[in-house]
Amino acid sequence: MGLNAFKEIIEFAIRNEEKAIHSYGSLAEIARTPGLKKLLLELQEEEKNHKKLLQEITEEKIESLEIEEVTNLKISDYLVEEPPGSDMSFQDILILAAKKEQKAVELYSDMERKVENKELKRLFEFLIQQEKSHKLKLEEEYEKHVLEED
Ligand SMILES: [Fe+2]
Ligand SMILES: [Fe+2]
Repeated sequence: MGLNAFKEIIEFAIRNEEKAIHSYGSLAEIARTPGLKKLLLELQEEEKNHKKLLQEITEEKIESLEIEEVTNLKISDYLVEEPPGSDMSFQDILILAAKKEQKAVELYSDMERKVENKELKRLFEFLIQQEKSHKLKLEEEYEKHVLEED
């Protein structure tokens, strides 16, 4: 694999992380409860770390990544998301964010399948599990505050 192709793939992933950073920023502004705002800002921070990791990527960094399997509660898979807007409810925000994480999982899974470079495969494996863990946190919040209500 040429250096340019490698760089292009990393650049593409960086742009995807930037979208996630932006999206968590907007959702955190819309969120009315402090707990939800805090969760969204924590996730935004993790997306910023992904961007940083990608910007400073080296073979050694890829080798030192810890990849752990993450459970999928699939709660949001069966829910329909509302378009983003300033009047979004607590659950609308969680569903939309979880759907976006699922899309990130799918995008990185696609990329993992397409690349042949071993380091890149490992990098995407890591990012897939990271975005799955974000989805899990959002679905756990949904389960705790929406499904367990009344
Ligand atoms: Fe990310
Ligand atoms: Fe994420």
